[in-house]
Amino acid sequence: MSQTFNPPAQHIAIIMDGNGRWAAARNLPRSAGHKEGAKAVRRVIEAAPALGIKFLTLYAFSTENWSRPKEEINTLMDLLEKTLDEYQKSAQKQNLRIWVSGEREPLPPQILEKIDRLVQSTAHYDGLTLNLALNYGSQQEITHAVNALIAQGKNHITPQDISAHLFQPQLPAPELIIRTSGEQRLSNFLLWQAAYSEFYFTPVLWPDFNEEELKKAVLEYQHRQRRFGGI
Ligand code: IPE
Ligand code: IPE
Ligand code: MG
Repeated sequence: MSQTFNPPAQHIAIIMDGNGRWAAARNLPRSAGHKEGAKAVRRVIEAAPALGIKFLTLYAFSTENWSRPKEEINTLMDLLEKTLDEYQKSAQKQNLRIWVSGEREPLPPQILEKIDRLVQSTAHYDGLTLNLALNYGSQQEITHAVNALIAQGKNHITPQDISAHLFQPQLPAPELIIRTSGEQRLSNFLLWQAAYSEFYFTPVLWPDFNEEELKKAVLEYQHRQRRFGGI
């Protein structure tokens, strides 16, 4: 085995892609792929702490995903609501702190209420921090930060100023970004935070992702040599 350069990543961010293709391959409706994808989310949350992961950001819904057919959006919102209910019940046992990154508008009010309740009631748990990227777009996040700085009257800003005004300023940059389903792009995810992230692309479709696949990604990351512009 090649040399290990890095301790396990503390913050892993995942672009959970391929639910639709998973379903299509089985002649099932896309909604079946999303349901199965929710199970993979559970598996990854359960496996993460033992792998040394402290922060897990999951890209659940992008600002561009509103362009999908209404029926699919309804399925995704229903599933999201169920998932929020489920974590409201299980977070204590899992010592799970939930954060959310994204815009509130135009999420439906009953979802926003559930998000607020979940974030508030898990704020003091100190196990895994699960950051849900919901109605998230990175260009919007950066623009939002710059606008907040303008509103403060600043006429000169530094990279640190922008970092301090992102949706979750306490969140360290992800050492590793995983994308499933064979696509190799960021799709408006963590453009600022990814400046020095390692990327791991796997053909595995999200509903098939599991602890083994997560371990593979973590191990590969540990063997990457990061230079941050140095030698
Ligand atoms: C990821 O799976 C889930 C979301 C984007 C909400 P997709 O629904 O994008 O699945 P594919 O890419 O069509 O296979
Ligand atoms: C990215 O997947 C968004 C999420 C995983 C939530 P998409 O399936 O929306 O990305 P594109 O459209 O293929 O780039
Ligand atoms: Mg997709």
